[in-house]
Amino acid sequence: MSMLDGIKSVRDLDVAGRRVFVRVDFNVPLEGKVVTDDTRVRAAIPTLKLLLEKGARVVIASHLGRPKGGPDPKYSIEPAAHKLAELMSVDVILTEDCIGDGPKKVVGDLRDGQIACLENLRFHPEEEKNDEAFARELAKLSDAYVNDAFGAAHRAHASVAALPRLHRERAAGLLLEAELLALGRVRGEPTRPFVAVLGGAKVSDKIAVLEALLTKVDVLVIGGAMANTFLAAKGLAMGKSLVEEDKLALARTIIARAEEKKITLVLPEDVVVADGLDATSGRVIDVSAVGPTDMALDIGPRTVATATKAFQGAKTVFWNGPMGLFEKAPFASGTNGVAQALAELRTLDSDAFTIVGGGDSVAAVEDAGLSSRFSHVSTGGGASLELIEGRKLPGVEALRG
Ligand code: 3PG
Repeated sequence: MSMLDGIKSVRDLDVAGRRVFVRVDFNVPLEGKVVTDDTRVRAAIPTLKLLLEKGARVVIASHLGRPKGGPDPKYSIEPAAHKLAELMSVDVILTEDCIGDGPKKVVGDLRDGQIACLENLRFHPEEEKNDEAFARELAKLSDAYVNDAFGAAHRAHASVAALPRLHRERAAGLLLEAELLALGRVRGEPTRPFVAVLGGAKVSDKIAVLEALLTKVDVLVIGGAMANTFLAAKGLAMGKSLVEEDKLALARTIIARAEEKKITLVLPEDVVVADGLDATSGRVIDVSAVGPTDMALDIGPRTVATATKAFQGAKTVFWNGPMGLFEKAPFASGTNGVAQALAELRTLDSDAFTIVGGGDSVAAVEDAGLSSRFSHVSTGGGASLELIEGRKLPGVEALRG
């Protein structure tokens, strides 16, 4: 069964002259008012173009950040709206609020080719409460609903869960469809050998996905700060490195289960250490040589070589989470090395299906100019993990029927 069964496609919606609410995920990184990574904005464009071509009156809405309890200019959607206008060369008219008379007027006055962009949905706490009355206010702005916000599909929030059910005409956008098709290949029965690469700071964020993956991977590579907990669980001294003491037992269980299931578990053999997060250079050492003042901030070159070897022959790869503190050049080699090795994999075997998901690992792939060499670059972090865990995503379920 495809994940899209029972879900209409935006391609099949009859939208000429009708108002269409498009939930996008414009939760983009900002520096002041500048969007520093526009991947999510670009990813929404095919659906928006299609709707404009079909003559729809397009209203887009998103959350941005996690504002607390009310409007906060720091979290205005304005920079993302400007970025969209620039990328599409269309007028994007930002409304002051996402509900009420203001947006109703803007949407009513839209001319051909223009897009209305509602201000941050999370300026109303009702959004995160999946509040029905708030969803009904949003519903006054549209005749049809499209969800193209894969990154937010795991949130049972009003614009994602309650709102679509208030529209008889509801559909998945092109991005959501592409994400579900690609990630569906990992969630179901991936073509083997199946390799998963997990990184990032904490084991605690990845417990459910680790458990799901242990039932189907052939190779599991663990890097990033979460690997420290596994190394500590094996009895290694990790100095000042981030270690989740309360997850040591869990890490031991995962190591034992991987052994039992004959999964190739790749943990760091060497690491790049420094004396703190502010360090401007690092030293490569064996994992057995971490001193009391050392902090492991990246995987070392021997580990990258072992992982690269383990990738050979893989038919499906899922990668989530950086291998180290990649935002800083001295600690980026591990993440870049893995990105390069996975990109090569597809050059060597065009049948290999490689997915990268999660803000940081995707940013690393983009920075290295390698995104076109992956089969799929997911715009969802938490959403892609929940999907692979086998959970139902509220934003997807609300489109069925
Ligand atoms: C994301 O960035 O993963 C999505 O936009 C969801 O954001 P949230 O974790 O704040 O709900």
